[in-house]
Amino acid sequence: MNKKIFFALSLLILSLISVQVNAEKPVLVKPVTEQELFNHILVLVNKDQGLSKDYIPANLRKVTVPSSNGKDQLRDIAATALEEMFKEAKQSGHNLFAQSGYRSYARQNEIFSSNVRKYGRIKAETFSAPPGHSEHQTGLVMDISSKNTNYNLIEKFGALPEGKWVAENAWRYGFAIRYPKDKVHITKYKYEPWHVRYVGLEAAKIMYDENLVLEELIGR
Ligand code: DAL
Ligand code: ZN
Repeated sequence: MNKKIFFALSLLILSLISVQVNAEKPVLVKPVTEQELFNHILVLVNKDQGLSKDYIPANLRKVTVPSSNGKDQLRDIAATALEEMFKEAKQSGHNLFAQSGYRSYARQNEIFSSNVRKYGRIKAETFSAPPGHSEHQTGLVMDISSKNTNYNLIEKFGALPEGKWVAENAWRYGFAIRYPKDKVHITKYKYEPWHVRYVGLEAAKIMYDENLVLEELIGR
């Protein structure tokens, strides 16, 4: 991780937010701890910027939606938003399934190492994040599947009615499709229609309306 860039970008985000909140007052950028930056709702985690090995998000809890055992924790704010989204998806006739939420550094290390053994490092890195560089460690991400994908995380999800519903509606709950098909050159990950990242209502609306990924939102 390039910590200097991470801290500079994070301070920029926080200062931009201060500008919006306190438009009349001079902007003071307060020093913040690493923990506060990692806990920030717009924290950018990608191939260039990562989280510490020992970072565990605050307020993790199980989501109360259909899911497999033990992989269904999110930060409280994202859990509440996900529950609301699943409820409304169901009312629209789509049964969503929470497949993989918070993952610790150690768990991501196991997953990534296994993918490297199976596919080789170059291929593995197109769809699997090295430990410390997975958004799942933020506790703000859920991978979603359905019966129609046999509860697998596959591209087909994006073409199914439930996947289309997620793509069109996730922003209304504060989530963004983090790895869209047309942004691979920026995200450096293959299309993942199932991986939704909580960014909050305001950012999610901008990202949806303007077709931006988090790197673009933060960088503009
Ligand atoms: N599949 C995403 C990139 C991850 O491993 O976090
Ligand atoms: Zn994911």
